[in-house]
Parts: sequence; structure tokens; C-alpha cells
Amino acid sequence: MSRLAGKTAIVTGAARGTGAVIAQMFRDEGAVVVATDIADGEGIVKLDVTSEAHWDEVVSGMDQLDVLVNNAAILHLGAIERTPADVYRQVLEVNLVGPFLGLRSVVGPMRAAGGGSIVNISSIDGLIGMNGISAYGASKFGLGGLMRCAALELGRSGIRVNNVCPAGGNPAMYAQWFDQMMSFMDQTAAYSDNRGIPGEVPLECIAAAALFLASDEASHITGVDLPVDGGAAAGVVIEGINSLE
Ligand SMILES: NC(=O)c1ccc[n+]([C@@H]2O[C@H](COP(=O)([O-])OP(=O)(O)OC[C@H]3O[C@@H](n4cnc5c(N)ncnc54)[C@H](O)[C@@H]3O)[C@@H](O)[C@H]2O)c1
Repeated sequence: MSRLAGKTAIVTGAARGTGAVIAQMFRDEGAVVVATDIADGEGIVKLDVTSEAHWDEVVSGMDQLDVLVNNAAILHLGAIERTPADVYRQVLEVNLVGPFLGLRSVVGPMRAAGGGSIVNISSIDGLIGMNGISAYGASKFGLGGLMRCAALELGRSGIRVNNVCPAGGNPAMYAQWFDQMMSFMDQTAAYSDNRGIPGEVPLECIAAAALFLASDEASHITGVDLPVDGGAAAGVVIEGINSLE
């Protein structure tokens, strides 16, 4: 397949998880991919999304740039009273300032080339609220605002901006809370089962949504949240209701 043939893309946070799957899928579809991360990895270009200098270095070294996937993010779980201000700030810095810096860095080259596509990987937590996730949820809701404003500002330059909102990702993102979460696993399972299509969304489904929005197939789609969530944001399921006559 060659849905991204002739295109060059930057993917952030591509050393593992969703970003790695997106980078591979984009390559399989014919794109040249600059896979970046703050972490080391084979074929990974160093890019801390919070560093303006890193963005300048990576973008200025590219002859062509058609797609940016702002995928890198960090998570903090914990009640508001137990969320230190510096942790809250750091989550916003990586998850919200990072995509802004990326977007700002690519506008010039994309505008000069006549257009481009920016895909932010947001979350179900950017569409609905949840307890214990205030920093991350605020960052992802903020990303929805950034995406809408950027889409309206850049559309006339042929630059599209959209968000993919998955309910699922790499479990390693919340590994540090695994042990504590064991005590209420039944509740987290009930949460991810209360969807039109129960269960966590596979990384390939998230990457496929990013691929669609990056490709010319989505040439008139800008300013949207695309949930990849099995219907989680659509509402709640009460199974027994289905049995009513
Ligand atoms: N894990 C989930 O359950 C889940 C659910 C919904 C949405 N998401 C979103 O999916 C995206 C990918 O997350 P994932 O699930 O693959 O988790 P992950 O932790 O495997 O991937 C995040 C990547 O971002 C990188 N990163 C962290 N800080 C960075 C920085 N300052 N600069 C550059 N890279 C940095 C990490 O090194 C890592 O490779 C994120 O935007 C995340 O918010 C994840």
C-alpha cells in the first residue's frame, strides 16, 4: 500500500508504544519517517518535545515535511490533593506545550510547501472527564483547544490539524501504578468494558486513524476529534436494557 507515498513525516514519542506502531505503519504506506523520542532507540532521532532547540534542529535538517504526529506524552495518576504543582506543570509542558512547539516549528515549511497534516494523539481523557487524572485530562482537553484554533488559523495555508482520541495505548504508560491498581482491577475492567465495543483499543487501530488523517484521503477534514474508543465517548451501556421487551 502507498497511502503516504511521497510524504515525509515526523512522529514524536516513537521509541515505543503507539508512536512506534504509527511510525512503522506510515513507513509501510510509503512515507519517509523521522521517528523521534526523548528516549534512545534504534533509528530514533533525539527530540525532547519541550525543547525549542531540539525542534529547530530536527525541522531545519529536513528538506521536506508533510506530516507531523504529536504523539509523545506522559501520564500522572492521583487525586488532586496528591498532585504536586511541579508534576501538574510537567504534564502540561510535555502534553500541551510540546505539541504547540511542534506545530509552531512545522508551520513555516508546511506553508512553503503548500500544505500539510498535523495529527495530535489525544485521548478519551480529552473528551470526557475522569477522577484521579486531572493533570493529564487538562492537558488533553487543552490539546483539543489548540487543535481547533490551529485548524482555523492554518486551513487557508492548506495545513490540516486534527486529534485522534484513543481509549487505550501502551500499558507501560501507567506501569508505575500497576501494583496499586491491582486492588481495584474489577473497576478498571468494568470501565473499559462499558463501551459499545468493550475492551482496550489495539495500537494498530489508533495508528490507522492517524494514517487516515495524515493522508490525502482526509483532505477536507480539519478541526476534528476522531475518537478511537469503541464508543466510550458516545455514552454508557446498561446491558440489561437490551433484554427489555
Ligand atoms: N497508554 C494509554 O493507555 C493511552 C490511552 C489514550 C491515549 N494515549 C496517548 O497515546 C500517545 C502514546 O502513548 P503510549 O500509550 O504509546 O505510551 P508510551 O508511554 O509507550 O509512549 C510515550 C512516548 O513518549 C515519549 N516521551 C515522553 N516524554 C517525552 C518528551 N518530553 N519528548 C519526547 N518524547 C517523550 C516516551 O519516551 C515514550 O516513548 C500519548 O499521547 C498518550 O497520551 C495513551
